[in-house]
Amino acid sequence: MSRPEPPAADALAPAPAGLQILPVTGLPDIRPGDDLAALIAAAAPWIADGDVLVVTSKIVSKAEGRLVPSPVDPVERDALRRKLIDQETVRLVAQRGLTKIVENRLGIVAAAAGIDASNVHRDEIALLPEDPDASARILAAAFAAAGKTVGVLITDTQGRAWREGVTDVAIGAAGIGVLTDHRGGVDEFGNELVVTQVAIGDEMAAAADLVKGKLSGVPVAVIRGVDAPGDGTGSSLIRAAEDDFFRLGTDLAVGQGRREAVLIRRTVRQFTGAPVAVDVLDRCVRVALTAPAPHHTHPVRFVRVEENRTVLLAAMRSRWEQDLRADGLPEARIAARVGRGQILHSATEIVIPFLTGDGRHDYPDAARQGFEHTMFTVAGGAAVQAFLIALAAEGLGSAWIGSTIFCPDTVRSVLELPDDWEPLGAVAIGHPTSPLLPRPPAAAGLIEK
Ligand SMILES: Cc1cc2nc3c(=O)[nH]c(=O)nc-3n(C[C@H](O)[C@H](O)[C@H](O)COP(=O)(O)O)c2cc1C
Repeated sequence: MSRPEPPAADALAPAPAGLQILPVTGLPDIRPGDDLAALIAAAAPWIADGDVLVVTSKIVSKAEGRLVPSPVDPVERDALRRKLIDQETVRLVAQRGLTKIVENRLGIVAAAAGIDASNVHRDEIALLPEDPDASARILAAAFAAAGKTVGVLITDTQGRAWREGVTDVAIGAAGIGVLTDHRGGVDEFGNELVVTQVAIGDEMAAAADLVKGKLSGVPVAVIRGVDAPGDGTGSSLIRAAEDDFFRLGTDLAVGQGRREAVLIRRTVRQFTGAPVAVDVLDRCVRVALTAPAPHHTHPVRFVRVEENRTVLLAAMRSRWEQDLRADGLPEARIAARVGRGQILHSATEIVIPFLTGDGRHDYPDAARQGFEHTMFTVAGGAAVQAFLIALAAEGLGSAWIGSTIFCPDTVRSVLELPDDWEPLGAVAIGHPTSPLLPRPPAAAGLIEK
């Protein structure tokens, strides 16, 4: 049987348009003050319009002088590296043993704040570039001045949550799109794409690393033929904290994430006015009601005040004015004092915690009756604090205000609640005007006796 004849050369279909990833070899060891654009242009005179330069951040750091002198001794060098990590850290996201995942000043969440001691001289440590987007713009502008329109990506190596292994990502960009938005589009089967944004900047960074490699000393690659129009930035690839489901971090070993949930709770007195979803409030109440209480009871209830809000606030105000008048305060001072207590008026939502009489033991003497009451009151406090923390973990601000404690009859009467329900203040709730950030733990620690 004869074999079929190969097709004539001119009958072959043209090769599909593809992508080239070209290493830039022959770059010298970069030192502070070096003109990176000139060195890259000299090493790769073949760079052409439309190419994307993918540049390892380490050499940008070196050229920009972001090098810290380091002892060569490995123990001292590691101590310095840890000190630098702490300096660059704005938020500890998680920690296990000595390994820290942190948010650095650029907003990048990465192991060791992006500081590493590889591919630098043994007597120095490189910090990340001060502003990788600015570094990318400077490189792109230098090529433009030489008549070549190129895109630039500055890359760093990062691990990923839920995935083994590291890959390169884009931390700076200029003259190239980094996020391709397919939302609103329709796939070839007719399905509408609802959430698909492709991190094309990171894809290019990772692809370029295939030719750059970690050990081969090739810190720059050129991608030719990529279709990524736009002028993105590395910072646009960072997910905003408020959109991050996992922003509180976790660490089963030291409870870091849980500790941070406590530390972001602080009294917030200014709200944006954006609506608060009632199901979120309900979820927070359910969390709060897991707080401990005496005798296995559930003596706390949380009441959302909506319909009766105006009437309640007016009644509380007039009750407060009466009290101040009875104290003999002049009208002007009463007006000033009451005018300052406006937090509940400007709150987006008001939730009032109550202590019910449920499950309280009766004692024959007043002293123990009082202690029993204190015991339930502290349980109320535990539930309110749990509520405030749950709100903070949902990104909501809150202010726990004492006022209802001073006018329990007024509150019960307006809200038509049983006589034995004691209001434990009121919680003003809303979206905070500035993000909730964890504060340092208190200075006063455990007292030993
Ligand atoms: C029972 C209780 C009553 C409070 N009453 C008020 C209040 O009437 N007005 C107010 O602005 N803050 C009030 N606060 C909030 C405290 O002032 C606030 O917790 C304190 O300033 C510390 O701030 P931080 O919560 O951000 O740590 C109250 C707090 C508690 C626990």
